[in-house]
Amino acid sequence: CSIIGYKGKNAAAPILVDSLKRMEYRGYDSVGVATFDSGNILVRKGTGKVIEVNRNLNIDQMSGKIGIGHTRWATHGGVTDKNAHPHSACKNNIAVVHNGIIENYKELKQELIEVGHTFASETDSEVIAHLLEIHFSSGNNIKQAMIDTCKRLKGNYAFVAVFQDGTICGARYEEPLVIGVANDGYFVSSDVLGFLQYTDKAIFLENGDICIVDNSKLEIFDFEGRPIAHPITQVAWELGDIDKGKYAHYTLKEINDQRLTVVHAGRQDEATMEKFCNILASAKDIYITGSGTSYHSALIFKHMLARFGKIRAETVMSSESQYALASMDSNSVLVAISQSGETADVLDSVRLAKNQGANVLSIVNVTTSSLARASDAYLSTNCGPEIGVAATKSFTGQLALIYNVTDRLCKNCLETEKAEFAVAVENIIANQASIIKVAEQMKDASDIYLLGRSLHYPIALEGALKLKELAYVHAEGIAAGELKHGPLALMEKNTFVIMINPRDATFNDTISNAHEIKARGATVIGISDRKDDVYDYWIEIPHLKEEAYYPIVEVIPLQILAYQLALAKNADPDYPRNLAKSVTVR
Ligand code: G6P
Repeated sequence: CSIIGYKGKNAAAPILVDSLKRMEYRGYDSVGVATFDSGNILVRKGTGKVIEVNRNLNIDQMSGKIGIGHTRWATHGGVTDKNAHPHSACKNNIAVVHNGIIENYKELKQELIEVGHTFASETDSEVIAHLLEIHFSSGNNIKQAMIDTCKRLKGNYAFVAVFQDGTICGARYEEPLVIGVANDGYFVSSDVLGFLQYTDKAIFLENGDICIVDNSKLEIFDFEGRPIAHPITQVAWELGDIDKGKYAHYTLKEINDQRLTVVHAGRQDEATMEKFCNILASAKDIYITGSGTSYHSALIFKHMLARFGKIRAETVMSSESQYALASMDSNSVLVAISQSGETADVLDSVRLAKNQGANVLSIVNVTTSSLARASDAYLSTNCGPEIGVAATKSFTGQLALIYNVTDRLCKNCLETEKAEFAVAVENIIANQASIIKVAEQMKDASDIYLLGRSLHYPIALEGALKLKELAYVHAEGIAAGELKHGPLALMEKNTFVIMINPRDATFNDTISNAHEIKARGATVIGISDRKDDVYDYWIEIPHLKEEAYYPIVEVIPLQILAYQLALAKNADPDYPRNLAKSVTVR
C-alpha cells in the first residue's frame, strides 16, 4: 500500500493524486483521498487504479490545501469501496490512511463496539480512526490522542491522519514513513517517490516516531511524547525518475534498461565495497536471505561463494528466517538482498540477526530504504527506480554485484567480460522474434516447466516466477537432475519444457534430460548459445567466456517471454493481479 499526506500552500488533491500514481506499484486494488477544507473533511474513494477512480470521482478536483491519500493492497477485508482508505470514525472529524496490519484489531473493534462505535468497513485499519476519535474527544489534544492510540496498537503500521482542524499527523512502527520538507509545505509519505517531484529534502522517521504538521511547522516525538530530532537528508533526484519514455510498459522499459545493468552496478564506492567484502571474508558463518526474485539471487550468491571463493554460506528464504536463523552470534553475517529494502519478511530476518549480535550486509536498489539504513554496509544495484511489479533489472543488478563481490573475494579469478554485456543484452533484446514465436505457441499452456542445473537452476526458478507473476500460468523450476526422481511422470504431449542450457559444464547432462523429455512427447525449448536438434524451439543467447555470468543473459529471454505471454493473455504486465511490488506485511 502507499500513503501520502500533504499540508501546504497549494491545492492538495492534484498533488495527492499525482503522488499516488507514482507510488501505485506498491498496491493498486483501491484508492482514496481525504481533504480538509473550511472545517470539513471530505472523502472520495473506490476500487480500481488511480487513473480510473480519479476519472469516476474527480478526486483531483477536491478542494483544500490539506489532505491524505492511499492506494491499497488488500489484507483484511475484500476489495470494496467501503474497505478503501481513508477511514473515518463516527463523527467524521478524523480520517486515516494506514499501511501494515493491526494484529489486535479484533479485540479493539469489539471493545469499541461495546462503547457504541459502529464500523463502516471490514478492515483492521478502521480501528485507528475510532481510537483517535475516542482519545481526541477525551482531551481535545491531538498529540496525546496520537500517543494514546499508538500505545493501543499491536502489529506493524504506518498511518497518517487528518484532524478536523486541518492538522496532519503520522506514526511509524515497522512500516516506512518519510517526511518531505518543501519550501511551501510538508509531505508525509510511505516512499520518497511520493514527494520527490516536489522536494528532495527528506526526514526518515524511525520506529516509534510520531509526527505532527500543525500550522506549517513540524514536530516529531516518541510514544512517550519526548521530542526527537532527525536530520534532513538530501535524496538523489534520479530516484524520482519514473518516466516510462517510449515504452508501452514499465516492465518492458526495465527489461531494456538491462543493457546498462552491469555498468551501473559497477559504480560502487571503493571504501564501502572493501568494508562489505572484509565483513564477509571474516565471518564465521554466513546466511543469505531475500524474498521472491531476490531469494533467487541469494541462491546464486551462495553458489558463487562456494565455487569461486571457497566460502560456505547458507540461504534462507526471508519468510522462513524466523524458524531458521536461531544460531547466529557476533561472528555471523546476514546478507539481505532486496530491491525495495522494505519487504517485511526481509526486515524481520535482519531484526533476528541483529538481536543475536550478527553483522548485517545488504544489497538494495533503494538506498534510502529501511534495509539500507539498518545495515552495517550496503551495496546499491544503482539501476534506478523499478516500477514494474515483477523484478527484472534489479535482479540482473543484484547478480552483477554478486559477481563483483565474488571476484574480489577470489582475487580476480573471474574472467573479465563486463564490457561485452551491454552488447550481449542488446542482441537478445534485438532478436526477440524467436521468443515471441515461443510465446505464441505457449499461449494456452496450463503448465510450463523450466529445467537447469547448477547456476541455471535458480534461473529456472526465477523464470517460473516471472511466468506466474506476469502470465498467470502454472510454471515450475526444476533442477534438471531431479527430472528422473519424479517430474518425468508429468511429461507428455502439450507439455512445454524450457531447458536453460548454455555451453558449460552442465551442457551434456542437460541435453540428455532434453532427450528424455522429448521422447515422452513434450515440446522442448532450449535457451542456449548452441543449437541442438533436440530443441523444438531454440532461443539463442550469446556465448560468454566466463560461464559464471550466463545467468544474466539467460534470464532476459525468460523475462521477455513472460512479458509477451502476459500481453497475449491481455494481462497488464506492470500490475499483475493480487500482487504488490513492495510487500510490507508478513
Ligand atoms: C514482492 C514482489 C516480488 C519481489 C519480492 C521481493 O513479492 O511481488 O516481485 O521479488 O516482493 O521484493 P524485494 O523488494 O525485497 O526484492
